Amino acid sequence: MPAHRPVMLDEALAGLALKAGGTYVDATFGRGGHSAAILTQIGPHGVLHALDHDPEACRAAASQFAGRTRFHFHRRNFSALGAWAREQQLVGKVDGLLLDLGVSSPQLDDAARGFSFVHDGPLDMRMDPDAGMPAAHWLATAEEGEIAEVLWTYGEERASRRIARRLVAARAEAPITRTTQLAELIARAVPGPRQKIHPATRSFQAIRIHINGELDALKTALDASLDLLAGGGRLAVISFHSLEDRIVKRFVREASSAKHEAFDPTQVLYDARLGSGPTAPAFRVVGRVFPSDAECADNPRARSAVLRVAERRP
Ligand SMILES: C[S@@+](CC[C@H](N)C(=O)[O-])C[C@H]1O[C@@H](n2cnc3c(N)ncnc32)[C@H](O)[C@@H]1O
Repeated sequence: MPAHRPVMLDEALAGLALKAGGTYVDATFGRGGHSAAILTQIGPHGVLHALDHDPEACRAAASQFAGRTRFHFHRRNFSALGAWAREQQLVGKVDGLLLDLGVSSPQLDDAARGFSFVHDGPLDMRMDPDAGMPAAHWLATAEEGEIAEVLWTYGEERASRRIARRLVAARAEAPITRTTQLAELIARAVPGPRQKIHPATRSFQAIRIHINGELDALKTALDASLDLLAGGGRLAVISFHSLEDRIVKRFVREASSAKHEAFDPTQVLYDARLGSGPTAPAFRVVGRVFPSDAECADNPRARSAVLRVAERRP
């Protein structure tokens, strides 16, 4: 089983400001690199809940942390973080939430999962193979306009329309069922000088984001963090592309500024006396960190990473 090297490990641990005996949630367990380090630092009385919707992550957690009574793994999509927190009676009780977004190296490297345009495999791309539809099914049924829209919105692919047209023409000849078949069709649709990255990189990212509903899940989890975290609790999010980071940046910015929508200037004095008026911000921005040059040299996956940290106000 190929390993996953945790990205920005020291920075994420520092961002979470781990306390011995605290309660933490790692909502993207993967292969448990961050979880293992968190468990060590929170000591014998700390509790760690880990979530992941991938059955392979679930298996890894069961073997890696067997017998650890203060570690609890939950096979859940973090889009259900709010409902999960209520079920677990963790609302307002969590000292830190980590989201290390995207796919893990074992998911990418296992051809059978269908994420890779380098290793041939069935065109699946679901992180949770029990939910949603495989990419092959979507590509067989989506309209040309929808395919182009997905490639443009989630991949910022400038040739989105041309690629969509090529895919729809190709699928009329034979179904698109393999990853390298898709990669070749995309490469043929975007002729031109060789680029630094494979011509299918952006399209694969886009289809993966769409198939897994990644951006909607992120927005829902960020909203849920408002209820989940205790006062002083930390939110740490590692993003790997600008679409994710933009969502995190906007959320943190909005949640850390006072809300003025209901503000009525004629009521200022009354509001001030009654303790209402503009709503107090929910978060304090702690900062944004990039991986060190040494980490980027050592682990190419880290190159596009950015970590944002915010603290829940009491
Ligand atoms: C980048 S990896 C995390 C690696 C992990 N921090 C480690 O050190 O091993 C992302 C993990 O999050 C999981 N994941 C992504 N989106 C998810 C979601 N919406 N709900 C639950 N898990 C998700 C993926 O299945 C993957 O295992």
